[in-house]
Amino acid sequence: MTTRILSGVRPTGNIHLGNYLGAIKNWVSMTDTIDEHLFCIVDQHALTTAEDASDLYEHTRLITAAYVACGIDPDKSYIFAQSHVPGHTELAWYFNCITPLGWLNRMTQFKDKAGKNKEHANLGLYAYPVLMAADILLYKATHVPVGEDQKQHVELARDIAHAFTNFVKRDVFTLPNPVIPTQSARIMSLRDGTKKMSKSDISDYSRIHLLDDDDTLALKIRKAKTDMEPIPNTNEGLADRPEAKNLIGIYASLANQNNDTVCSAFEGKTFSVFKTALTDILIEHVRPIREKLILLLDDKTEMDRILARGADRANELAAVSLAEVRSSLNLYPRP
Ligand code: TRP
Repeated sequence: MTTRILSGVRPTGNIHLGNYLGAIKNWVSMTDTIDEHLFCIVDQHALTTAEDASDLYEHTRLITAAYVACGIDPDKSYIFAQSHVPGHTELAWYFNCITPLGWLNRMTQFKDKAGKNKEHANLGLYAYPVLMAADILLYKATHVPVGEDQKQHVELARDIAHAFTNFVKRDVFTLPNPVIPTQSARIMSLRDGTKKMSKSDISDYSRIHLLDDDDTLALKIRKAKTDMEPIPNTNEGLADRPEAKNLIGIYASLANQNNDTVCSAFEGKTFSVFKTALTDILIEHVRPIREKLILLLDDKTEMDRILARGADRANELAAVSLAEVRSSLNLYPRP
């Protein structure tokens, strides 16, 4: 059986270190052992939380460039925009018709994002997990690398696949498996170690942007919140020290080490000493990413080539699945 990775990032804003260390770096490491890899810019998902549509074009460019700059080879993997494959929304409609509302009511992300004012939340936000199931099942993906917060959505995709089988009495889809990073690759805010690093945080000092220049990187690390304690000899000594743990975790992730190794290397040192080393390794990793990002953002021909290649392959796979789906639903074949 062909193994296939499918994952996606919503083009909703800046691309930061959390996206790289927490997601894309992990995807790249999976590509060697898995046959085919599809990385989607899920622009239709981005619309569920957009205040208006003005930034979508620019944000899609940024995620596309970031995929490549962070190490995805656009000639070995396929990079494509969700809206370039109409099959996602078609399949999502069929799924809408077999997904019980009760299943959607259990989705924690909707509760978080809709907030208190559920009556004002849009229908797309509510149906988001169904579209995500379509993203995954359309390609018969076997591996879906996602953060812990998205695991529930991948499980829903499996449930929807089963429901579809029961409905048409035929096995059409492959059951996808979520792949959750084991390492503590969860990158937190530099201002508050209990909050995820996020593009929506009001403070720009809370996150490392992949387009930050070297001076800005150094400044953000210098200003990052820490505590007065020296570095302990193991990760256990970082319990109840969320900011300290986050900085150690960032170093570990960049150096491909674990927190224990980093702690023992810096045992007894103060954070001001550690921050110098962290700044160095951060600049060493972010600089080439930034340089590639800037080049690609400036090269429309190359960006279009990458997205066209991805869309061609994605549409090819989607056409096969949709033919099976339509036939299993006994829709009258187009004459
Ligand atoms: N929901 C994911 C997120 O917010 C993005 C996403 C959409 C996705 N469709 C997907 C991830 C399919 C993996 C597979 O991060």
